[in-house]
Amino acid sequence: MEVSKAVSERKSIRAFTKKKVPNQLIKKLLRKSSRSPSGGNLQPWKIFVINNSSMKDFLEFQEKWTEPEVPAYDIYPSKLKEPYRTSRFELGEQMYEILGIGREDKDARIEQVMRNFKFFGAPCAFFCFVDRQMGPPQWSDLGMFLQTFMLLAKEAGLDTCAQEAWSMKHDSVSKFVKAKDSDILFCGMAIGYSDESAAVNSLKSERRPLKEWAKFL
Ligand SMILES: Cc1cc2nc3c(=O)[nH]c(=O)nc-3n(C[C@H](O)[C@H](O)[C@H](O)COP(=O)(O)O)c2cc1C
Repeated sequence: MEVSKAVSERKSIRAFTKKKVPNQLIKKLLRKSSRSPSGGNLQPWKIFVINNSSMKDFLEFQEKWTEPEVPAYDIYPSKLKEPYRTSRFELGEQMYEILGIGREDKDARIEQVMRNFKFFGAPCAFFCFVDRQMGPPQWSDLGMFLQTFMLLAKEAGLDTCAQEAWSMKHDSVSKFVKAKDSDILFCGMAIGYSDESAAVNSLKSERRPLKEWAKFL
């Protein structure tokens, strides 16, 4: 698969089939993804894969967890500026419209958000942590690693959804994967095969036009 095709075909999938993903395949994709660049070649990503029995154990562990959790970080700035605010709003509206969930139906909206915490039904996932010592440059390295993984997954016929939502479950996730106190959770990554019959997967997110974010001097 050409890179351009992988880039244009990758999209966030929010409903997966039960079809399993072999650990060997994930291992291969992670190893390939580690060719991603990182400032100073720090390779700051720390990945914990859950699959098969560990996925079952993790979901049970999550169900039983009752302690309040401290989010790892603020996912968005509290007063998101334009044009970012509108982009975020439009994505939500587009998704809820496809799902037939009205603006006033807060319960249904919350229910959809909560599907994050079942990995949208994906049979396999990983969590991406980073040492707390690291700052914005290294966090951006994580992004490069994650995008490389998502493109390679596409090439391998897999679908994905990066999930910052898991940052809200930092304590329980850290406990389950036995992460070090010195590490912080950036995001989860749901991995599997798209359920093509699910309306939510027909969502094709918009992009702002190039002239709004690129200047040629
Ligand atoms: C780092 C990162 C975290 C994300 N977290 C979530 C999430 O928690 N839940 C979710 O449904 N989508 C999440 N997304 C998906 C974005 O909403 C999605 O990438 C964006 O709307 C563009 O759509 P596309 O991925 O289909 O091109 C995340 C994406 C990235 C890159």
